[in-house]
Amino acid sequence: MPDEAAISSVCPTIGEAGIARVVAAFYRQVPTDDLLGPMYPPHELAEAEARLRDFLIFRFGGSDRYLHQRGHPRLRMRHAPFVVSQAARDRWVMLMDRALTDAEIPPATQAIMQEFLHQTATMLINS
Ligand code: HEM
Repeated sequence: MPDEAAISSVCPTIGEAGIARVVAAFYRQVPTDDLLGPMYPPHELAEAEARLRDFLIFRFGGSDRYLHQRGHPRLRMRHAPFVVSQAARDRWVMLMDRALTDAEIPPATQAIMQEFLHQTATMLINS
């Protein structure tokens, strides 16, 4: 895991707008993905996008509105209803890597985000 100082430097560096671009680029790919598409509620994609965006803004050192709206993240518990296999984890990471490229995040910040996101995704495997 990157150290806490690096993690919390991300949002101050690229802004909420930078994180919003990444998450939008991620969710643009979800509906047509054969593995992940069916896991996400189609009528709630905009809300799902807002939840991931606000979580990442919070975790990467920005506003804590995620906590006020959703409470403690407890990510493993919140993913328990979904089958997160190694294959689902790898796909999620692939879409997220592509989103980081599409959103043109500067390489040093991208590296911090990637390390955090890849490791968190691995931690969420539950089947
Ligand atoms: C490992 C592969 C992953 C899969 C298959 C997956 C799948 C999902 C699904 C299906 C949802 C429900 C969508 C919604 O209605 O919000 C969700 C929610 C969420 N995921 Fe993931 N996810 C993965 C990894 C991650 C990672 C790595 C993070 C954080 C770095 C993350 C953060 C979140 C958050 C914050 C929510 C919303 C929680 C809430 O407030 O209810 N997920 N995920």
